[in-house]
Amino acid sequence: MTRIILYTGKGGVGKTSMAAATAVGLANSGKSTLIISTDPAHSLGDALNMDVGPRVKTVFKNLDAQEVSVVEAISSHWGELKVYLAALFQSQGLDPVSAEEIATLPGFDEASHLLYLNDYLKSNRYDVIVMDSAPTGEALKLLSFPEAMSWYMEKVFPIGRTTARIVRPFMKPIIGMPLPDDTVFASMDSLYKNLKKVREVLIDNSITSIRLVCNPDRMSFNETKRAYTYLLLYGYPVDALIVNKIFADNVGDFFLKWKENQREIIKEIDESFREIKVLKVYLSDEEPIGREYLTRLSKKIYEDSDPMEIFFKGKPIEYYRLDNRNYVRVKLPFAKKESMNLYNKGGELVIEIENWRRVFYLPQSLSDKSPGNAEFINGHLNIELV
Ligand SMILES: Nc1ncnc2c1ncn2[C@@H]1O[C@H](COP(=O)(O)OP(=O)(O)OP(=O)(O)O)[C@@H](O)[C@H]1O
Ligand SMILES: [Mg+2]
Repeated sequence: MTRIILYTGKGGVGKTSMAAATAVGLANSGKSTLIISTDPAHSLGDALNMDVGPRVKTVFKNLDAQEVSVVEAISSHWGELKVYLAALFQSQGLDPVSAEEIATLPGFDEASHLLYLNDYLKSNRYDVIVMDSAPTGEALKLLSFPEAMSWYMEKVFPIGRTTARIVRPFMKPIIGMPLPDDTVFASMDSLYKNLKKVREVLIDNSITSIRLVCNPDRMSFNETKRAYTYLLLYGYPVDALIVNKIFADNVGDFFLKWKENQREIIKEIDESFREIKVLKVYLSDEEPIGREYLTRLSKKIYEDSDPMEIFFKGKPIEYYRLDNRNYVRVKLPFAKKESMNLYNKGGELVIEIENWRRVFYLPQSLSDKSPGNAEFINGHLNIELV
């Protein structure tokens, strides 16, 4: 099974450098490796010191790279998308147009990365796929897309258990679309199933590791805590945090205050992220570019541990039974009770934390249950299902 390691974090903290170094290190050790950049502002080529581009290219033995382009993705998945797109455009009174125009539709960016990932996973060509993703907000959009689509599929399109109840009377006035015919429906359904499969892989902690990158400063630390919360809310397995650009001891007088500040924040980071692996990387005196440098950097990041290792095996979301009652427990260590909103919508559990909302579809065995009392204890939200 292909392993996936995905890096995310605030802009400029070193995601691309960490991802490129990890990929180079793994390829050097004989693992068949693919590195994909899903950040539309690609800089993977700069780190690898070569032109990468939207098609998979070999960097050196065991290392392939790709900078995903949504236009290219639409062209290469045209078979899968054609029927659906034609119907979508027609329903809006538009003529089907070029891949460039389609690429601007909301959600296509995210979907295109996931479609590629689905291909690579199916082909089983790689031992590991390293993903260099966009700054946190964008990356979260990518990761929550399959679930957002599942909402669409379940509520708007007439399949699944909610069909008759919700869709038919409301659909046209809300989205101005006629009910799709069977072909569209089938193509939509297959697209949805593929994306759903990718999501299942991305939340499987035996396959995927999400690794956060941050710098030892207050803003980056705060954003990392928020990103961690949202990732856990969606069930994504974060197993490590890389604190990058730490000043060395000989940094010089001008940076002494900064260094002291970094020391304090690193202490807080260590205390806050005890259960996942915290890796530390010093700011070096040259830019980490090219194979040789990235090889050295990969050793600095992981030292004696293997980047393929799963550093944390716990699950962010667990369903359990206690005294004949059913519960769901969501790990949310940094969420504040007052910024959390929890409600029951038509039997579905909705958790909102600031701008992020997750609708929980309960597993089949619990689908007759609906959320009851909730308690927030030790960074875990425990919700009874009644
Ligand atoms: N440990 C380090 N020592 C020295 N320079 C570094 C280190 N880590 C990253 N850099 C440099 O910092 C800059 C930003 O790094 P990088 O592009 O990897 O960050 P990013 O998080 O991917 O940024 P973006 O959000 O723009 O994609 C680059 O010039 C990179 O070479
Ligand atoms: Mg980058």
